[in-house]
Amino acid sequence: MATALITGASAGLGSEFARLFAADKHDLLLVARRRDRLDALAAELSSAHGVKVHVVAADLMDPAAPGAILDEVSRLGLEVEFLVNNAGFGTNGHFWELDAERERGMVEVNITALVVLTRALLPAMVKRGRGRVLNIGSTAGFQPGPFMAGYYASKAFVNSFTEALAYELRGTGVTATVSCPGATATEFAAIAGNDKTRLFKAGAMTAAEVAESAYRAMHAGRPMVVHGAINRLSAWSSGLSPRAAVIAIAAALNRRQP
Ligand SMILES: NC(=O)c1ccc[n+]([C@@H]2O[C@H](COP(=O)([O-])OP(=O)(O)OC[C@H]3O[C@@H](n4cnc5c(N)ncnc54)[C@H](OP(=O)(O)O)[C@@H]3O)[C@@H](O)[C@H]2O)c1
Repeated sequence: MATALITGASAGLGSEFARLFAADKHDLLLVARRRDRLDALAAELSSAHGVKVHVVAADLMDPAAPGAILDEVSRLGLEVEFLVNNAGFGTNGHFWELDAERERGMVEVNITALVVLTRALLPAMVKRGRGRVLNIGSTAGFQPGPFMAGYYASKAFVNSFTEALAYELRGTGVTATVSCPGATATEFAAIAGNDKTRLFKAGAMTAAEVAESAYRAMHAGRPMVVHGAINRLSAWSSGLSPRAAVIAIAAALNRRQP
């Protein structure tokens, strides 16, 4: 049975992706650190939709974690037809004052784990002539973001990497899609410490809205999707505006308010 591997499935967008795949009768392999949350979601989805749901508790900050997940895929004999690289987090503050280990871990989770899992699972998809990769990038990836410097740069990687991959995959039957949400109501803002920023105070889309839009774009094989009219407008205008102005606006949006 074709399986969807979803990282970061214990909360936010990842849980919504799991619900969408399960409703379409796909088996699942769910990854995150909080096993209790994954177990609860697995029980909910297997009883509601009759699908098999496997769970792997892994900390993707650990460079060994993607290997352990892939070992589990082999041990269970799963055919991963859908790979959703969704796990990710941000940090907020002057880069030189942020926790050094967390900054390293953010690169590991947002970039390295995504690259390792994609590189490992794509060959079988290409061989089968069937498969979908859905990476969660961000509108943050369209410009540098002072006070979230590492996070914005990590999402620039995800956006660029996925669009290039989508091009390389043309004609193989496999597609790659990068989903670019703007502010979305999940646990993300509280974890990043930017719930008191102008960006999040201005309002956020729901996780269900964003996940449904990303899911549709993935099935349509679109290389990139930006969710919501306001986010599409700001992504478009940031490409046309002077770089210094774009960076100053990102700084104003990311600076914590009292
Ligand atoms: N919310 C937004 O405004 C927004 C906007 C643009 C892009 N995004 C992107 O959307 C994706 C999903 O985030 P979200 O908004 O749904 O945030 P969320 O509610 O905080 O969920 C993040 C998920 O990633 C997992 N995760 C975080 N660190 C991990 C680690 N070290 N190892 C394994 N799993 C880890 C978390 O699980 P555990 O804590 O259980 O490990 C959780 O399941 C991220 O890539 C984020 O950058 C979010």
